[in-house]
Amino acid sequence: MKTQYYTASSLDGFIADPHNSLDWLFQFGEPEDTDYPEFIRDVGSIAMGSTTYEWILNHHIRPGSDRPQPWAYRQPTWVFSSRSLPPVGGADIRFVRGDVRPVHREMVAAAAGKNVWIVGGGDLAGQFYDHGLLDEVIVTVASVTLGGGAPLLPRAITTPSLRLVSVNSWGDRFAQLRYEVPNRRSG
Ligand SMILES: NC(=O)c1ccc[n+]([C@@H]2O[C@H](COP(=O)([O-])OP(=O)(O)OC[C@H]3O[C@@H](n4cnc5c(N)ncnc54)[C@H](OP(=O)(O)O)[C@@H]3O)[C@@H](O)[C@H]2O)c1
Repeated sequence: MKTQYYTASSLDGFIADPHNSLDWLFQFGEPEDTDYPEFIRDVGSIAMGSTTYEWILNHHIRPGSDRPQPWAYRQPTWVFSSRSLPPVGGADIRFVRGDVRPVHREMVAAAAGKNVWIVGGGDLAGQFYDHGLLDEVIVTVASVTLGGGAPLLPRAITTPSLRLVSVNSWGDRFAQLRYEVPNRRSG
């Protein structure tokens, strides 16, 4: 079982542009033959911050529209927010706030041997890192630069450094880097 931060980033290290848009990513459509189907098969629980959750609500689910879409994940999902956010009907979504450690314990138990996916944003992944709870960073780098936006992982991780485990590429637009996070579990 691993806790993985799996995301897509611009070459200059942003996961959303300054307006929280992902148009720079979706301009490429759905890249074929990525590892996402394989990745999500092994995910047992999911965590995300409120900006990410609200992005999914506004861009995919669209509650109140003519044809609202169902929640895409069957895994239980923990959404971090200090605010009261609307749930999505039929989805197992648990709203939480504060310390990530007790939430991580719940997520590991719910995952029952599968992996924990930190969807983002970067600071939330950083909060898991701060407590030694992040095992892997898997970043698919799109061949664009954004000049600013939501940072990939706003932490200094230098010594020991991340360990590069694998490199993959898809077409002429995407390179995926998989890193192991140095073990600094503090409980
Ligand atoms: N490129 C990709 O593959 C990818 C992947 C994921 C996300 N994204 C995008 O990247 C952007 C990320 O946005 P973001 O940087 O703002 O990150 P985020 O993690 O989605 O949202 C941050 C917000 O979550 C809440 N939060 C975080 N930790 C918390 C805690 N411990 N307790 C309580 N609340 C907590 C806070 O808001 P409140 O307390 O005010 O609610 C915080 O401002 C979004 O636009 C998203 O759509 C892109």
